[in-house]
This record gives sequence, structure tokens and C-alpha cells, in this order.
Amino acid sequence: MDKEKVIALLNEDLEGEHGAIVQYLIHAYSMGEGELACEIEAIAREEMRHFDWLAEAIVDLGGKPSLKRGKMRMEGKTVSEWMGQDVLLEEDAIAMYKEHIKTIDEPGIKRVLQRILSDEESHRDDFRHFVDKVKREGLKDIRGDRKDKVTKVLDWGIEHEYTVILQYLFHSYMARNKEIKKQMEDQAINEMQHLGWLAEELVGGGGSPRIEHTKIDQSTKPAAMLRADIEIEKKVAAEYDRAAKDIADEKLKKLLLRIRDHEVYHTDVFTDLLKKMKRQS
Ligand SMILES: [Fe+2]
Ligand SMILES: [Fe+2]
Ligand SMILES: [Fe+2]
Repeated sequence: MDKEKVIALLNEDLEGEHGAIVQYLIHAYSMGEGELACEIEAIAREEMRHFDWLAEAIVDLGGKPSLKRGKMRMEGKTVSEWMGQDVLLEEDAIAMYKEHIKTIDEPGIKRVLQRILSDEESHRDDFRHFVDKVKREGLKDIRGDRKDKVTKVLDWGIEHEYTVILQYLFHSYMARNKEIKKQMEDQAINEMQHLGWLAEELVGGGGSPRIEHTKIDQSTKPAAMLRADIEIEKKVAAEYDRAAKDIADEKLKKLLLRIRDHEVYHTDVFTDLLKKMKRQS
């Protein structure tokens, strides 16, 4: 099978993982803190590892990881119905992985897909179990429809964080330089933390998270990546700072200032890398 075909199949798998991550995170955030939400977030983290393996395999083959989000199953009115939708999404993934394992003949890639497949089968069983668990424990959708200045800031923050998570992951996959790769990955993980904090804050305060992103910089040359990342970090640090000053709630103010400090740190890390790169060239 030619390389382009394998890359296309792996990108389909990657898009599927992307959809699953977002679907599970929205479900976990929307039921409020608790044991089940933690278990679902742990599954989402395993999907992130799959995402990572697939993206690296695509880059090794000379391809570019797709940032498109695959199908999500967001139907369902009760938490138990959501868990049923998660079972269905796992079943979709299982069918696709089985198909791709059959079509791809490269043994190294087959092995990775096989490994992912066995995780998906275990997730499917977990979600089946959660359908009943939720009924027994009476977990509820705790989201509200609050829309005001505070939810607007949180919505904006979530949109920003989701955008940079994808942008830094893409840059990390495309970077050849080990240090740049590592820093991009570390900062992407830090942005995932921000997204989680903001989404939990939003739901806790009676809002409802929508996880959508804005334009993602897909530069493949390191200097261009770093410049784009520095630009967005500077803008967003100023924005968090402005938002924090504008908010009366002390706890939320502190959270926004903490995130601002991280963004300032990201700006510095990326700026240093860019300087170092220029010195070396
Ligand atoms: Fe997965
Ligand atoms: Fe952030
Ligand atoms: Fe940042």
C-alpha cells in the first residue's frame, strides 16, 4: 500500500480520536466533579495518547497530522444517555480500527493500531458499565444557561485554550528540533490544564461549555511557528490580565491571574527558543 494511502487512513483515525476526546471532556465537565467525571477524564487522556501515537506515525511517514475533528455523538438528554452515546462512539472506533488493521500491511503501524483497538474495547466496556452506574447513582446534567460577563470571559478563554492546544501540538509534531518539540508539547499540556479549569469554573457557575476553536497557525518552519506562538501568547496574556481586573469574584480573578502568569511564561519560553535558533543559524 502506498504511503499516502496509509497517511490518509491514520488521519481518519486521528480525527476520530479528536472527536472522542472533546465528546468525553464535555460529558465529564457537564456532570460536575466526582468519581465518574474523573474516570471519564482518564479515558479522554488515553484517547490523547492515541492521538499522540497516530500523529507521530503520520509525521514519520512524511505526512501532516489533520487537525479536523471527527464525528461526535452529542445526542442524549440524560447522563445515562450520554454514556450510551459514548459506547456507540467507541463501537464506531472499534469498527474503523479493525478495518484499518486489515487494510494496512506495515507491521509497525498494525501493531500500534492493534494496541489502540484493545484500549477502545476496554473503554466500550467501561462506558457500558457507566450507563447503569449513572442510573444507580442518579447523576445529573448540572449545566445551566447562564450568560453574562463572566461566562463570556470563560467562553473566550476555553476557545483560546482549545486553539492553542491544537496549534502547539501541531507545531510539536512538525518540529524536528528536540527542544522545540519538547517545549511545544509541555506548553500544550499546560493549556489543557487551563481549558479544564475554565470549563469546570463555567459549569460550576451555571454555564455550559462549548468547545470550539478559532484559526490555528499551521506553520511548519520553526521560526514561523515560534513567531506565531509568541504573538498569540502576548495577546492572550494581556486579555487575561484585562479580564481579571474586570471581574469582581475573588476566586475567579485569582484563577485568571494564574493563567495569565502561565501565558507570560509561555511567551518567555518561546522567545528564548527563537533567540537561540537565530544564534545557531
Ligand atoms: Fe482512542
Ligand atoms: Fe492557556
Ligand atoms: Fe499559553
